[in-house]
Amino acid sequence: LLGEHKDSSLKEKGTKRILWADDAMPVLGSIRQQWEVTRPLEGVCIAACLHVTTETANLMRTLKAGGAKIALCASNPLSTQDDVASALNEVFEIPTYAIRGEDNEAYYRHINQVLDFEPMITMDDGADLVNFVHTQRKELLPRIVGGTEETTTGVVRLTAMASKHVLQYPIIAVNDALTKHMFDNRYGTGQSTLDGILRATNHLICGTTFVVVGYGWCGRGVARRAAGLGANVIVTEVDPLKALEAVMDGYRVMPLADAAPLGDIFVTVTGNINVIDAQHFGQMKDKVLLANSGHFDVEINIKALRELAVNVEELREHVLQYTLPSGRRVRLLAEGRLVNLSAAEGHPAQVMDMSFANQALSVEYLITNSERLDNGVYPVPEPIDHNVAKLKLASLNIDIDTLTPQQVAYLADWRHGT
Ligand code: ADE
Repeated sequence: LLGEHKDSSLKEKGTKRILWADDAMPVLGSIRQQWEVTRPLEGVCIAACLHVTTETANLMRTLKAGGAKIALCASNPLSTQDDVASALNEVFEIPTYAIRGEDNEAYYRHINQVLDFEPMITMDDGADLVNFVHTQRKELLPRIVGGTEETTTGVVRLTAMASKHVLQYPIIAVNDALTKHMFDNRYGTGQSTLDGILRATNHLICGTTFVVVGYGWCGRGVARRAAGLGANVIVTEVDPLKALEAVMDGYRVMPLADAAPLGDIFVTVTGNINVIDAQHFGQMKDKVLLANSGHFDVEINIKALRELAVNVEELREHVLQYTLPSGRRVRLLAEGRLVNLSAAEGHPAQVMDMSFANQALSVEYLITNSERLDNGVYPVPEPIDHNVAKLKLASLNIDIDTLTPQQVAYLADWRHGT
């Protein structure tokens, strides 16, 4: 049974790109090799809603090698790589429902179609799949034993569901593993966001004033890479601790209202709604660039921007220019959707290797342990997190030290003092 993709002639290109990414995913590859023998997911049906990229394709291949029956759909209408979707369907025989640029109707139809496989496990990036099961496909709930969640926004939504006692099965918050967010969110989003801005504009970053809105793990990564390219970075925050950290990391920190007239480029990474809003657009410089790397396209108030504009024009792929009554032009990248996945290829395989190793091992954990879990949001077990770090270091041929017996004893002995 095949899914739905745009163009079958892209399948060779997709296959080559999937194998190229696989080459940079040694941890996931080692799990796949082991699972081909041990088959821990034999007969387990998994519905996955993830960005359809080369890295995701390798996660799907790993789950399949473990014996799982899988169906995949997109977790964002603009992040799908059409060549990957066609290779997954036609070469790797993994049903995939995803077309880049699909409208909301097709997006939810595809979610519905992967749920028609009647999964035991859901795998989400942003919690749209879990949400859909709990609202539109409740009849599937009895057979679902658990799910995993890839991203901060999804974990926030699922935690809200759990606290309202709405969540009907346990979820492993893959995002919260240290080997996920400290690497994927920071170094992945850092590099891929700059990659998206560069591919969309081909602009010079050095010498610009670059405003990073939000200083979570993603914001930290974006700020560091923008500074590395020579930008003057301003950080805006609502959390005093994160704001203080940004100050000590060497950035200017101020309210967005003060940063609005100073910035040449703005990137939102907050997970929240309308952080760049109607009152900011009019304050901005002519030809300012606005981009978002948060999960949803809600961080920049695009509706307000559209209402303010006297003219809207596409200047080049991924760049829409809104001319304000003052004559100043605001340039929105990638329709305010994830710029790193819409205008570039998302995070590099080397970081997705760790994120997706956590995904794979969390599914295996759920299969054996779901009966002991309540309907809540759970961390990735520490031994899995630790093992992913160990495997990644080993793949990089990096050895580390071990404590001597004397050092172990010292740490356990509270009587030592000055
Ligand atoms: N999220 C960010 N980058 C990604 C990638 N390359 N593949 C899947 N999900 C992602």
